[in-house]
Amino acid sequence: MSSDGVRIFVFDTTLRDGEQSPGASLNVEEKIEIARQLERLGVDVIEAGFPISSPGDFRAVQEVSKIVHNAAVCGLTRAVHKDIEVAAEALKPAKRPRIHTGLGVSDIHLKYKLRMSREEALQRGVEAVKFARRFVDEVEYFLEDAGRADPEYIYRVIEAVIDAGASVINVPDTTGYTVPEEFGALIRGIMNNVPNIDKAIVSVHCHDDLGMATANTLAGVLNGARQVEVTINGIGERAGNTSLEEVVMAIHTRKDVFKDMYTGINTTEIYKTSRLVSTLTGILVPPNKAIVGANAFAHSSGIHQDGVLKERTTYEIIDPRSVGITESKIILTARSGRHGVRHRLEELGYRFDNQQFERIYEKFLELADKKKQVYDEDLELLVADAASTVVQTYELLHVQALAGDKVVPTATVKLRHVNGEEHVATATGTGPVDAAYSAINNIVQAPNELLEFTMQAVTEGIDAMAEVTVRVRGQEGDVFTGRGSATDIVVASAKAYVQALNKLLDRRSGVRRATIGEEELEHV
Ligand code: KIV
Ligand code: ZN
Repeated sequence: MSSDGVRIFVFDTTLRDGEQSPGASLNVEEKIEIARQLERLGVDVIEAGFPISSPGDFRAVQEVSKIVHNAAVCGLTRAVHKDIEVAAEALKPAKRPRIHTGLGVSDIHLKYKLRMSREEALQRGVEAVKFARRFVDEVEYFLEDAGRADPEYIYRVIEAVIDAGASVINVPDTTGYTVPEEFGALIRGIMNNVPNIDKAIVSVHCHDDLGMATANTLAGVLNGARQVEVTINGIGERAGNTSLEEVVMAIHTRKDVFKDMYTGINTTEIYKTSRLVSTLTGILVPPNKAIVGANAFAHSSGIHQDGVLKERTTYEIIDPRSVGITESKIILTARSGRHGVRHRLEELGYRFDNQQFERIYEKFLELADKKKQVYDEDLELLVADAASTVVQTYELLHVQALAGDKVVPTATVKLRHVNGEEHVATATGTGPVDAAYSAINNIVQAPNELLEFTMQAVTEGIDAMAEVTVRVRGQEGDVFTGRGSATDIVVASAKAYVQALNKLLDRRSGVRRATIGEEELEHV
């Protein structure tokens, strides 16, 4: 505790556990963009990936290590020498590298997954920490499935790995099984029963399977944890991880409960970060999501509106401006010019070199031609489109669809291959989008299964931009997300599908999970 209070460190795992959300795969450039924004947000640690899991993850950790200035950059490993060596290599450019290693501690994990005795697992953990310390000063140790493990065994493991050199102890509720009182008691037990606990920071890492990740994390903090492991928008395995925005705003808003605790987060960057992660991962934020959902600060009942107009605090516990939600008075039009567009982008937190900006400006003019007014949300979509660096094997040049209740839905699409050849195909379907997708399939020979199709209007009014997100599964089982936006819903749908297929083709042509097989990976 410093004279100004108790600092709660924020460990962001959007790029590792968050990216484990089904279909949320991010390429290296997208990870770099998110990492830059996480630094602006002020997180203390960025977990950038699991380096041994794929060449893509290795590169992501390496590239993020190069561009991050203030935060520690962390790479996940199993308690295995090879993993640790590879992570250390990827983290070499980092100013503050951290290796995050560990092993399961619950009897279920020990018996069925690791097939080890408690003693063997403890020794393996100690070995891994000592080995990791040969490469870096900061070693964090995770006790997987601690939420379902015997506390007496947990205390012994923690004491041993701190003695071996771990300075951060991660206590995960891996399966989202615990309730707040229980999880808080687990952390309190650790604080009271591990003799050398003062030599480490205790971290909490909760999953949201029962909807209690935020409550459990905060219970951990109230009982002695000083680091929280979180993701933006709460994305992550299954039901997700703890949301950064919820934990940070709870600590910030409830000073009476969290007393002198504080984080280093610049809360006005929260909304922007949420939008960026949503657009790049293709995972939409539910409208009722706390802090960052579209309705989080919307008041619809007459009584509430009346109250807020008289005095904001009658129904609002957080000032939306404190999380960066400003009601934009600036609406851009085709006449706004380069200066106006660049200025607004900078206010929204996006900075581009001239070449990147010209690409976005060109798209802006196309959009402003179709729509009279361009809102912030429209701009964010343009930025996300322009940021994509996957090889664009096919470009959508044209789509035309015929639909109605007395016609057979038919679509014609024209695509240009990266080699310059143009292809046209026409197909029928159950509706205009289905017809367009069949026509695209006739050109792009990339067998896939369409897993999900979602559409939302991003701005208001009849000329709103439609944002379509699709997820497709390729023959090798990988899932790819595509996102497209346009004022026409068939065009937005076709763009999203072509983007997903381009990612599939990109993966097919090169990057492979090469370092170790999936089966081995299961035995983390
Ligand atoms: O949920 C979990 O246990 C994890 C560990 C690998 C840290 O993500
Ligand atoms: Zn996790």
